[in-house]
Amino acid sequence: MIDGCGREIDHLRLSLTDHCNLACRYCVPEGAPPSRQMIDARLAFEIVRWLSEHHGARHVRLTGGEPLLYPDLIPLVRRLALLNHLDEITLTTNGQALAVQAAALRKAGLSRINVSLDTLRPDRFEQVTRGGRVEHTINGIESAIRADLTPVKLNMVVQRGLNDDEVVAAARWGLELGCVVRFLEVMPIGPLAHVIDEHLVPASEILDRLSSAFRLEPITQSLGQPAVDYAASSGSLRGVIGIIAPTTRPFCDRCRRIRVTSRGAVVACVHEDRHFDLTRCWNGRRLDEVHADTILEEAILHKPAEGSRSQSLTMIALGG
Ligand code: 5AD
Repeated sequence: MIDGCGREIDHLRLSLTDHCNLACRYCVPEGAPPSRQMIDARLAFEIVRWLSEHHGARHVRLTGGEPLLYPDLIPLVRRLALLNHLDEITLTTNGQALAVQAAALRKAGLSRINVSLDTLRPDRFEQVTRGGRVEHTINGIESAIRADLTPVKLNMVVQRGLNDDEVVAAARWGLELGCVVRFLEVMPIGPLAHVIDEHLVPASEILDRLSSAFRLEPITQSLGQPAVDYAASSGSLRGVIGIIAPTTRPFCDRCRRIRVTSRGAVVACVHEDRHFDLTRCWNGRRLDEVHADTILEEAILHKPAEGSRSQSLTMIALGG
């Protein structure tokens, strides 16, 4: 897939469900009614097969909502792992239900895992996630390491006044476990943009905080990687710390992604309110690839050089 701007698209983010057991403030609007949309597992498989066999998708990331709440997750991963053209199957989770699933995911063929962890403090975790328990996520991370879903990457969305004082502590904690620790700028998206804006901590400031505790050497970026990674050291502690700065240093020119939502819609750009319904090509058994190709072509051709910030969906509906 080459888009209208000449970018090669080979990363698919596939949201299995918009259901989540947490409700992080940058992802879910306050008081939003819970949704339990699930993509049909056969459709999910067919979409990945079609995109990897015919359109050069090489990396699929399973997201949600919370993908660990998807009932058919393990059998789906097992089937995806048999596809010949995929290099990697990864998953992003909040980790609440990871401890019991990590070993089975690895056995099914999952390559690695990213875990969202915005704070290590139990009271704060409960507040920023609206009800989550940090010890569950910590147990999940430890189980993922034991299951060899490595390197486990931890994602911390840094938000002013909520967790920005924990950057150094989180980095130390994650590196001690052997995780790659990623710090994300919060990304104003969809109807929550104004709420999110108030809490933005720019990457430059995150880096300043980290530099006070670690020696940081930039590592050359791999293709399609939005994170800027650093070899970090402090005394005998060593590891990789990354910064993802979609807001102050957008990486649209290097974007290699498309998304498919749990409603079966292709979204070529997270910031653009264009959704292309693939369920029209699905009769419950077969994907009409000719029809799906025309939909994909339309979506990819008009993937914008930079998003216009017109997105109407929140992150939970889009797929994180
Ligand atoms: N800004 C930054 N990161 C976000 N995530 C979800 N919504 C946002 C946002 N608005 C993160 C989650 C998770 C990953 C999938 O994306 O915390 O780690």
